[in-house]
Amino acid sequence: MDREQQLKRLEEMNAAALAGGGQSRIERQHAAGRKTARERVDLLFDPGTFRELDRFVTHRCTDFGMAAQRVPGDGVVTGYGRIDGRLVYVFAQDFTVFGGSLSHAFAEKICKVMDHAGKNGAPLIGLNDSGGARIQEGVASLGGYADIFLRNTMYSGVIPQLSAIMGPCAGGAVYSPAITDFVAMVDKSSYMFVTGPEVIRTVTHEEVSQEELGGAHTHMATSGVAHFSTPDEDACIALLREMLSFMPQNNMEEAPPKPTQDPLDRSCPKLDELVPVVANKPYDIRELITEIADDHHFLEVQGEYAKNIVIGWLRLNGRSVGVVANQPEHLAGALDIDASLKAARFVRFCDAFNIPLLVLEDVPGFLPGTAQEFGGIIKHGAKLLYAFAEATVPKVTLITRKAYGGAYCVMNSKHLRADFNFAYPTAEIAVMGPDGAVNIIYRRELKAASDPVALKAKLVEDYREKFANPYQAASLGYVDEVILPRTTRARLIDAFDSLENKRDEMPAKKHGNIPL
Ligand code: HXC
Repeated sequence: MDREQQLKRLEEMNAAALAGGGQSRIERQHAAGRKTARERVDLLFDPGTFRELDRFVTHRCTDFGMAAQRVPGDGVVTGYGRIDGRLVYVFAQDFTVFGGSLSHAFAEKICKVMDHAGKNGAPLIGLNDSGGARIQEGVASLGGYADIFLRNTMYSGVIPQLSAIMGPCAGGAVYSPAITDFVAMVDKSSYMFVTGPEVIRTVTHEEVSQEELGGAHTHMATSGVAHFSTPDEDACIALLREMLSFMPQNNMEEAPPKPTQDPLDRSCPKLDELVPVVANKPYDIRELITEIADDHHFLEVQGEYAKNIVIGWLRLNGRSVGVVANQPEHLAGALDIDASLKAARFVRFCDAFNIPLLVLEDVPGFLPGTAQEFGGIIKHGAKLLYAFAEATVPKVTLITRKAYGGAYCVMNSKHLRADFNFAYPTAEIAVMGPDGAVNIIYRRELKAASDPVALKAKLVEDYREKFANPYQAASLGYVDEVILPRTTRARLIDAFDSLENKRDEMPAKKHGNIPL
């Protein structure tokens, strides 16, 4: 073979790899409103920075006529590139090649980039579009999945791992994303299920569409498996890029600062009016978050799930901060099973990646009821308690109104090693609300009273006077400072600045045993 033929051979092999599953399948993919794996990768990285690995790897299966069907790359594009100049690894499954299904060789390619990402301390993004285990390969494919799950787990808490679901993802294709830190879906175009509608019809005789079973809305609002839903693929990829901007490259680093022109001592007079005087009147805690954030920017996570708690990232003085906030607009901000799980996982993510935590507290307690008790609120609520207790990042709590009962303890109280606990003058910190408290401690007196309504009103007022304020907690040092709402941004920035070099740790152990 002369030099010209050698070059031509490489050119032909590259062309075959770039053609994926062929023009007609690419057209089918486009007709479904979806991009190919390579188009997605191009969009993800800063222009011209993507470097592909293993472009010529093929599967090694010879059963079912597979020997004659080999596509260079075998249905997954892997490599690395730059996002805002920072190194990031990627794998992008190509639905045009055997439906993006996972062969053993396909899994080896993914494992290779995962190991690169782990060793080099750089985030990993998976763009998922796959029919699951490649049926023709049998157990070799299952083994390939397990190899990936092992690496997802080993690198969990070492490098950020983000998943985008960009097509129908079935079987093994959904477990890897589930182990990763965040899952983004494309609305009306991506699906996740362990067993699809056909199998469900056979086994349980239920009729359910793909969309109902595993569409973005289902996983955002009902199952809580997805953290984000975007209207299209471009928005999904833009979101992945933005998410990374709040995260460090790995657990040994800090998130990159984003300088801001927003004055650090900006007064927020709007906040003086935000918390209603009437104790059970709702308000939107997100107004507080956007008011204090640099440039009023807040990226909410899991906004459609367990709306009684709000989580996400904002920046204060350019520093990435994870916020966990009770939302009085939903269930009065009470903690329930879903809210506890949602917040606990987020707290652990932030702690693993050195992202300071801000807690905004207005919580009447844990949600009462048999559904919650039978569902295991005891162990699920304990997860949130555990997550806050083990977190060693800078931790700041601001009590805006209610901090009642066990929920007071759970929501990053001083006793769980919070660094600063602030309260508004409107804060009420007590074992329970005045009404419930009076009913219990004055049951006999109320029963015997000639005018129980008047007596109760007086007792409630007395209780409110004594406990429905931040000053008992402040006198015990459980609240460090009662602040004026308008000073919130300045005080929080100052607090986090002072915690910049905080060092704290857990006792040495193999790992804890969070009540799963
Ligand atoms: C091999 C597959 C495949 C698979 C799809 N294809 N899934 N090939 N193995 N798992 C191929 C199809 O034969 C077809 O080939 C092409 O991909 C596109 O598939 P279509 O069915 O035409 O596409 P669509 O109608 O969009 O449906 C997509 C789908 C469906 C919903 C993903 O293909 C499907 O249900 N596939 C099977 C899903 C599944 O049960 N997978 C195994 C899960 S078990 P041609 O040549 O026509 O283009 C598993 C175990 C791991 O994953 C567990 C680990 C814990």
